[in-house]
Amino acid sequence: MVDRMRTSADMPATDFAVASDSDDVDPTHASLPRRVILAFAGIEVLFKVLVGYSYLFLAGAHTATERRTSLTWYIAVSLPFTAVFFAGLVRLLAPQRRWYREQRAGQVGDATLALAGEALHRLPSRVAWLWTFQWGCALAVLVTVREVTCVEAGALFLATMITGPQPVARGIARWLAAPSMLQVSLLARERGITLRTPVLPLRRRLVQFGMLIAITPTTYVASFAFSAGASRTTIEDMRAPIAICAIAIVAFAAISAGLMAASITRAVASMSEAIRAVARQGDMTRVARIPQQLRDEVGGLAASINEMIDRLERTAAEHAAMSESLAALNHALERRVTERTMRLFEANAVLQDEMAARDKVELELRHAQKLEAVGRLAAGIAHEINTPIQFVSDSVQFVTAASTDLLALVDKYQIAVRAVLAGTPALPAATEAVEAEHAADLDYIAGEIPAALRRALDGIDRVSVIVRSMKMFAHHDQDMRDVDLNQAIQSTLIIARNEYKYVADVDTELGDLPLVRCHVGEINQVVLNLLVNAAHAIADVHQGGDGRGRIAVRTSVDGDDVVIAVSDTGSGIPEAIRHRIFEPFFTTKDVDRGTGQGLAIAHSVVTEKHGGSLTFTTELGRGSTFTIRLPIRGKGAGLAA
Ligand SMILES: Nc1ncnc2c1ncn2[C@@H]1O[C@H](COP(=O)(O)OP(=O)(O)OP(=O)(O)O)[C@@H](O)[C@H]1O
Ligand SMILES: [Mg+2]
Repeated sequence: MVDRMRTSADMPATDFAVASDSDDVDPTHASLPRRVILAFAGIEVLFKVLVGYSYLFLAGAHTATERRTSLTWYIAVSLPFTAVFFAGLVRLLAPQRRWYREQRAGQVGDATLALAGEALHRLPSRVAWLWTFQWGCALAVLVTVREVTCVEAGALFLATMITGPQPVARGIARWLAAPSMLQVSLLARERGITLRTPVLPLRRRLVQFGMLIAITPTTYVASFAFSAGASRTTIEDMRAPIAICAIAIVAFAAISAGLMAASITRAVASMSEAIRAVARQGDMTRVARIPQQLRDEVGGLAASINEMIDRLERTAAEHAAMSESLAALNHALERRVTERTMRLFEANAVLQDEMAARDKVELELRHAQKLEAVGRLAAGIAHEINTPIQFVSDSVQFVTAASTDLLALVDKYQIAVRAVLAGTPALPAATEAVEAEHAADLDYIAGEIPAALRRALDGIDRVSVIVRSMKMFAHHDQDMRDVDLNQAIQSTLIIARNEYKYVADVDTELGDLPLVRCHVGEINQVVLNLLVNAAHAIADVHQGGDGRGRIAVRTSVDGDDVVIAVSDTGSGIPEAIRHRIFEPFFTTKDVDRGTGQGLAIAHSVVTEKHGGSLTFTTELGRGSTFTIRLPIRGKGAGLAA
């Protein structure tokens, strides 16, 4: 059957496949009623002959007349029961005929399908019992009517007939019904119809088979022995019937064994074929289910395998659905990632713009703070400039007055000289000149004029230093350049002088520094902030008193860095605010003294702009030291190297 189905025209390209199209009329199925009736007609004839022969023998019919009489009785009694058997058979096959009719009409109803399926599954046992009934009844009548001499022989013969035909008829019917059973169960499965089918455990089938093999020969031999004894027939007379019966028994046994083995091996082959197909196929819908021809453990196993394939199919379908939704999810996720990435890019661009704007604002802020510092220092610087200018002014006034006196004296000298040259009396003019000389204090003038001029020049020098320092301080450089930091610090000290000169003396210990790559204007601003903070801290300590503090400015080289340390003997920084002093706008000072930007800007300039560091140590009541560390070769030089 499996092989036939494999070559079916509409078979899918699998090794084990079934045709489930009901339009494709199965010839085997279509001819089932006819085949069953023909087969049982043949077997009936065979049995009739065999049993008739045995009956004649048992009935002790030795003469021709006796035989004729017995045969007539035999035929007369058994024929009606045979007719009953075939009538029953035709009735049993009625659902099959209905199915056949509907299939030819092109439409098999679900009810017909269910009926045919159930009838098919019950067919073997019903046929077997029908057949047993026929033979049982016929023989019982014969034995009773003909008064067989040995009752035991008749009973044993009856038992033989019951055990013999049962398995034979059952096996033959099952074998004949198998193809139709397969098609019906497949179609039922396709339509989702559950067939109500009886279950005969394999154990019972095997026991039945064993009984057939064991009891049949025994009962035959026993029946012959008894009847031989009863009819006093010689063993020679019994030889032929015994041989025929023996052959028939062996044939029945062989046929039954073959049928049983075939049904089991066919089912097992179907199962292994199906399991192989499961192992090979990815698509379970293309794997055919195992035809369930047996209603025993083997059939149960087939059902379990079918269930497993069904479950695999369902799981595969679920997997497919899941992977489909997973793919959709993945797609959506990718789209979202792309969208987010785009948004991130946009946000990044905005951030870049904002950072650039912030840098610009920061730069402007630093510059503004510098200008503010300069503004705040302006009065002091003006004072610083005023002092030397005062010298210059005084000296120039002195020189001016002295030169007027000198010019008057020269005038007197000229009058005296002209009188001498003209030969006129020159004494009065000379006397006048000498008096004027005394009055002008010529020695003093001669000594003081150079000193006054030197002082004026000094004053001018100091003014020009301050101006130069201011220029240097205010320098707004875009690019870094190599700078003499000591000189820059000195300039800053000059312009900040007015801030500290009243409260502190400054010690400078400027080491030998190489040129340092930096934005000098901004470093000046940092140093100025530190100096002003130091002066303020010292002023806070000596408030109102006339004591003075000290500010020390030291520079040195440490490895690849230059170090600028600004120490003061001021108040020190309280523990509570140490972590905040670099915060923008953090101040402990009055509005007119500070805005809290000095150290924040200094920190940003040193660390961010120059890649250096700004640290401090402090001791309350003793003072603080702020230390700037700058890479000599500028920001990032260490990394590049
Ligand atoms: N050398 C120091 N000694 C003691 N305290 C200091 C010293 N330097 C800074 N501070 C403290 O740190 C605070 C912040 O200093 P910062 O220079 O940032 O701002 P400011 O001096 O208050 O104002 P600005 O510098 O903007 O004029 C100061 O208010 C002060 O309390
Ligand atoms: Mg400050």
